Amino acid sequence: MKTTFITYLLLIFAISMTTLVSSASLQVGFYRSTCPSAELIVRRAVKSVVSRNPGIAAGLIRMHFHDCFVRGCDASVLLDSSTPENPSEKEHPANNPSLRGFEVIYEAKDLIEAICPQVVSCADIIAFAARDSACQVGGINYAVPAGRRDGRVSLKGEVSQNLPPPFFNAKQLEDNFAKKGLSLDEMVTLSGAHSIGVSHCSSFSNRLYTFNSTHPQDPSMDTRYAAFLKTRCPRPSSTRATRDPTMPLDIVTPNTLDNTYYKELINHRGLLTSDQTLLDSSSTAGIVWNNVLRPSTWAAKFASAMVHMGSIDVMTGTEGEIRKNCKVVN
Ligand code: HEM
Ligand SMILES: *[C@@H]1O[C@H](CO)[C@@H](O)[C@H](O)[C@H]1NC(C)=O
Repeated sequence: MKTTFITYLLLIFAISMTTLVSSASLQVGFYRSTCPSAELIVRRAVKSVVSRNPGIAAGLIRMHFHDCFVRGCDASVLLDSSTPENPSEKEHPANNPSLRGFEVIYEAKDLIEAICPQVVSCADIIAFAARDSACQVGGINYAVPAGRRDGRVSLKGEVSQNLPPPFFNAKQLEDNFAKKGLSLDEMVTLSGAHSIGVSHCSSFSNRLYTFNSTHPQDPSMDTRYAAFLKTRCPRPSSTRATRDPTMPLDIVTPNTLDNTYYKELINHRGLLTSDQTLLDSSSTAGIVWNNVLRPSTWAAKFASAMVHMGSIDVMTGTEGEIRKNCKVVN
C-alpha cells in the first residue's frame, strides 16, 4: 500500500518535471548573469536613432510583428538571401522596401557581440528594440521575457502565407491572428501600432480610385480625407516604377503611440482597409470603442499583447542557434 503511494507521488513528480522541461519558456532577465548590459545597449541604440527619426520606432515595432508571424520570433526577417535563387523574407514586398530599422538591430548586435560573443540572440534584440520603441514614442513600458534562439531558415515564399495583407476584412484578420494563437481583442489592440508610422500609397490607393465597379472610392472612408489623399497618391498602376509616396497611418499624432488611431477610425479616417474594417465590423466595433474610451486600458492591453506576440513559436534551450551576425546563419 505504502509503496504504491510513493510510486504515485514519484509519478506525479516525474510528470510535472517533464511538463516544466518541455514547456521551456522565455524569462524576464534572461541575460542577467550572461550579458547584463544587453538590454541597456539595445535601449541606448534605439534611443539615439529614434530621437533623431521617430519613424524608426514604427519600423522596429513592425519588424517584431513581421518576424513573429513568419516562422515564429526567430529573427528570420533579418537573414539575407543565401543565393539570388533563394530569396529570404527580406525580399518579400511586405518587407522590401518598406520595412525599416535594420541598422539599429545590426548596430546593437555588434556592440553586444564585442562584450558577450554569441550569447544574445538577434530575435531577442528585435523584441527588446520593439519594446524600447513603444516606450520612447508611447510611454508604454513592459518587461520582455527573453531566451529566444535564432532560426536558420528564411523564405520569401512564406511571408504571404502568414502576414495579413492590408485589404483583409475583420473576419480574415481574426482568422489570421487566431492561427498564431492571438485573440480577436489582441488583434484589434495590436492594430493600434498603426498609431505611428507610415504606409505607401500603393497599400491603400485602391480605396481612392478603383474600389469596385459601382464605387470607385471606398464609401467607408471620410470623403474629405479621401479627397486629401488623392492629392498625394497617384492612381494604382500596373507599372511598378511609378512614384509611391508615403502617408501617415494616423494623421493626427503620427509620431505618438496612443489611442488616437481608434478615434480616427470613428472619424472614418483609417488609412488601410484592415484598419477601417475594425470599426465597420460588428465583432470588433465594441473593442474599438473601448480603446477610444479607455486609453490606459488599451496601453496595458497593448503591452501584454506584445509580450504574447513575442512568444509565437519561439525556439529556446538548444534549438536553433545564437547568430554571430544577424544577416547570416553561423
Ligand atoms: C492587423 C493586420 C495588419 C495589417 C494588414 C498590416 C499592414 C500594414 C501595412 C500595409 C503597412 C504599410 C506598409 C507600407 O506600405 O509602407 C503597415 C505599417 C505598419 N504596421 Fe502594420 N499591419 C497589421 C498589423 C500590425 C501589427 C500587429 C503591428 C505591430 C504590433 C503593426 C505595425 C505597423 C507599423 C508600426 C507600421 C508603420 C511602419 C513604418 O512606418 O515604417 N502592424 N502595416
Ligand atoms: C461596392 O461596395 C459597396 C460598399 O462597400 C457595396 O455596397 C457594393 O455592394 C459593392 N458593389 C459591388 C459590385 O461589389
